[in-house]
Amino acid sequence: MARSRWTKILIVIVLALIVLIGLGITFTIGWRPIIGAKKRALTDRKFEATPARLARGKYLVDGVNGCLGCHTDADWSKPGAPPVAGREGSGHIWADQDMPWLVAPNITPDKETGAGNWTDDTLARAIREGIGHDGRALFPFMPYPHYRDMADEDLASIIVYLRSIPPVRNQLPTTKMPFPLKFLIQNAPQPVTAAVAAPSQSSDVARGAYLASMAACTDCHTPQEKGQPLPGMEFAGGLLFHEPKGDVVSTNITPSASGIGYYNDATFIQALRMGKVGARPLRATMPWYYFGRMTDDDLKSIFAFLKTVKPVKHQMDNFERPTYCRLCKQKHGFGATN
Ligand code: HEC
Ligand code: HEC
Repeated sequence: MARSRWTKILIVIVLALIVLIGLGITFTIGWRPIIGAKKRALTDRKFEATPARLARGKYLVDGVNGCLGCHTDADWSKPGAPPVAGREGSGHIWADQDMPWLVAPNITPDKETGAGNWTDDTLARAIREGIGHDGRALFPFMPYPHYRDMADEDLASIIVYLRSIPPVRNQLPTTKMPFPLKFLIQNAPQPVTAAVAAPSQSSDVARGAYLASMAACTDCHTPQEKGQPLPGMEFAGGLLFHEPKGDVVSTNITPSASGIGYYNDATFIQALRMGKVGARPLRATMPWYYFGRMTDDDLKSIFAFLKTVKPVKHQMDNFERPTYCRLCKQKHGFGATN
């Protein structure tokens, strides 16, 4: 009798623990790290190659999205660190940014080592939804959380254009995320099942917001702590990058006086096209080599959008000796003045 009462109490305790752990998981990391990323089944859709799509795709891949900047080794001996000539799209290992385990794969049409055998929808799902050709959740350094908003026609254009670039043979290893990243990022992929429309062409700010999202400006211009963007510091700069020529932090591009509040259209276009702010040269980590191909109208729209983001006072200068900054928790020129 007494024994069965203790058994009942034990069962209740175990059940209560299971419910608590379940709630704990639900409200903290969620179930995705355990059951795997959300993904949809592939379809056999095909994107018809048209001259308009080829041209738009080139503009996006080589310019706005700068896909080749991440998916190719850079030639640091040249201004703007362009892709190594003849290797465009053949992939890149991110050892230079302390991530030797991260591999941007070969996305050229090479059948054996690239994307030549991946279907259009395999590419579409990887680009917008973060699921690789092998069904794996991709590390969100590949900006798919932004690309989720990519208009259907832009997605089709990018894939049509990628099919047209010269195949390059380059066998690379697969990304191997260290623990616990592999589990934590399972929350990032999201299926896209409804149509995605292009932004309203009548509003400069809406167009600019879309382009800035496609160009992932915020990924580099928002400082991070433990891989997460610091709240309240959107576009305020302070993320550290290693370049062969030495470290550099992203600068403040909010409309504050310590950011780009003093810019006009011409200053902005010159910065993004030539990599120069007046006489001050910008380092090539800022992908001006790619963004420089955008039309004046598109660049002006991005600037119009940036004028609408919250101004953040965050003083910085990459030519000064780095000192600790309490705002972005990074060392940079003028850091101690913040
Ligand atoms: C900021 C750098 C960056 C940019 C910009 C970028 N990628 Fe990626 N991409 C990556 C990395 C890194 C991976 C690998 C992620 C992983 O293995 O977990 C990747 C993965 C991919 C994959 C998945 C391949 C597979 O295994 O199935 C495709 C396809 C792809 N990118 C295409 C693109 C296209 C198209 C663009 C431009 C619209 C683009 N990427 C822009 C870094 C980038
Ligand atoms: C791959 C990372 C990266 C991305 C993506 C990126 N930037 Fe930058 N950007 C930087 C870095 C690093 C600097 C600082 C360069 C320096 O000081 O030499 C910079 C500097 C700038 C500057 C100069 C500001 C100043 O006066 O110091 C502007 C303007 C700018 N970026 C705008 C943008 C816009 C707009 C986008 C998106 C369209 C963008 N950046 C995307 C890394 C990036």
